[in-house]
Amino acid sequence: MPIVAEWFNSPEVFGAYNPLLQMPKADVEKLFASPNELKLFIVEKKDGTKVGFVAHFCVIHIDGRLLEIGYSFVPNERGKGYCTEAATMMVDYLFLSKDVGRIQAQTDERNVASQRVLEKAGFKKEGVLRRSIFIGGEWRDAYIYSILREEWKEPKILARTA
Ligand SMILES: CC(C)(COP(=O)(O)OP(=O)(O)OC[C@H]1O[C@@H](n2cnc3c(N)ncnc32)[C@H](O)[C@@H]1OP(=O)(O)O)[C@@H](O)C(=O)NCCC(=O)NCCS
Repeated sequence: MPIVAEWFNSPEVFGAYNPLLQMPKADVEKLFASPNELKLFIVEKKDGTKVGFVAHFCVIHIDGRLLEIGYSFVPNERGKGYCTEAATMMVDYLFLSKDVGRIQAQTDERNVASQRVLEKAGFKKEGVLRRSIFIGGEWRDAYIYSILREEWKEPKILARTA
């Protein structure tokens, strides 16, 4: 989708704490077919305005795969609770539809807004991934967060259908 490639290449949308992807549209499309199984949901307002995205993907470890989420919203739509709602809904969706016991997320240690979103969506901070993200020409520390199925307990926004 063209708007996704636009956002991935936009320092304003990706903000100060995300590595810019800087890739042509064709390469962005390839991301969706990669072994990471990236799935991205565009968040729209009722009037159809596209305000951001929430995504899930697999992080591949030597002994398995972990499910991770990420998100970004356009600058003039931040601070309205959209990301918290989208992340909470994504957690509901993943625990309802996938056989996983854990969902994780990573944020730059300085990204307080993202950390707040994760806390409000029920994630717990696990620790520091030292020098794990390359942003603005230097390696930065990231915090890793997770929510376990037993902590989630039940859907907060979505409903069970079966
Ligand atoms: C992080 C981001 C997705 C949050 O989206 P959002 O829709 O603004 O999030 P919400 O409105 O649901 O919640 C944001 C929370 O962070 C708080 N917040 C925002 N900026 C903050 C700051 N500089 N310091 C402390 N808290 C901050 C808000 O007050 C709110 O918390 P509250 O409800 O307790 O008041 C958005 O800021 C963004 O797109 N940033 C750039 C890209 C990015 O960093 N993506 C995440 C990478 S891990």
